[in-house]
Amino acid sequence: MKAVVVYATITGNNEDVADIVTDALEAQGVEVDENEMTMADVADFENADICVICPYTYDEGALPDEGLDFYDDLKEADLSGKVYGVAGSGDTAYADDFCVAVDEFGKAFDEAGATKGAENVHINLAPDEDNIKTLDQFVADLVKKAQ
Ligand SMILES: Cc1cc2nc3c(=O)[nH]c(=O)nc-3n(C[C@H](O)[C@H](O)[C@H](O)COP(=O)(O)O)c2cc1C
Repeated sequence: MKAVVVYATITGNNEDVADIVTDALEAQGVEVDENEMTMADVADFENADICVICPYTYDEGALPDEGLDFYDDLKEADLSGKVYGVAGSGDTAYADDFCVAVDEFGKAFDEAGATKGAENVHINLAPDEDNIKTLDQFVADLVKKAQ
């Protein structure tokens, strides 16, 4: 089984989230390709069984600036038959705008026809021990769905 994990980060929290997801996938025997969003292409998902995005949220619910093209390409892609998950870090101080980008990327995967394999994960700032447990369950759900 193969997975592609794509993250967007400014201060490193979402790279940490992506690393945790990658480690958990590899622990389940999944072959993983992990890339920063500007180095990734939506077409990379076509070679994967499991597709994961870990995005930050900025400026009152905005998507990562450097990820806008990726987001547009994702909505236009055909990822039917692929299992997807979105897990990202934001800041609860932004209240209603907390982790909006996570849910927006989830909707883009839906538009691409991918199958949701796990509930979206919203993490406050740097991932802690509880978040790691949540991400382990997120990965277990994705793998189960892709089997
Ligand atoms: C100017 C600014 C705007 C932000 N806006 C939001 C927001 O609307 N929603 C949110 O959940 N987090 C917001 N954040 C918090 C970041 O998403 C959060 O710090 C996140 O962990 C950063 O991820 P990164 O370390 O991968 O860059 C904002 C941070 C900054 C500096």
